[in-house]
Amino acid sequence: MASRIVSLTVNDREEELIAKPGTSLLGALRENLGLTAAKRGCAQGACGSCTVLLDARPVPACLVPVETVDGADVRTLEGVAADGELDEVQSAFLEDFATQCGFCTAGMIMTAEALLVDNPQPTRDEVIEAISGNVCRCTGYEPIVAAILDAAQRRRASGRTA
Ligand code: FES
Ligand code: FES
Repeated sequence: MASRIVSLTVNDREEELIAKPGTSLLGALRENLGLTAAKRGCAQGACGSCTVLLDARPVPACLVPVETVDGADVRTLEGVAADGELDEVQSAFLEDFATQCGFCTAGMIMTAEALLVDNPQPTRDEVIEAISGNVCRCTGYEPIVAAILDAAQRRRASGRTA
């Protein structure tokens, strides 16, 4: 199979890349576009470290062949901060010590971003359910759950809904 030109909107920028057959969205982001926040962990859809938003839904980018998402909208951790200011989820992760080695953090934050758009006032159980596909080997999850609940509260207090 021949390489294909794929067009994507990534973090509000129009991008075109030449994708070899079998290139994953994760590979395209990291290797073609230099966006390395999403991490390659298991490469099997099991760890969530590669999570990005694809048309606003969290997906394991390692499982998505990039040629199948021509024309899609993609958001990565690099596209979360606005004008260099961390958003509520990023700030809460930082200030609530929800990151240690950081390998899971980009995926966790993107999963949390999607959750808080769908559900601005999640319960603790809903947060746990939302991040059930994201593995963290360092924190024991408690600080991550607390940070997401904190971020939800910060976002409600700021009046931001998305
Ligand atoms: S690297 Fe994609 S789910 Fe693990
Ligand atoms: S902070 Fe190390 S894997 Fe989550």
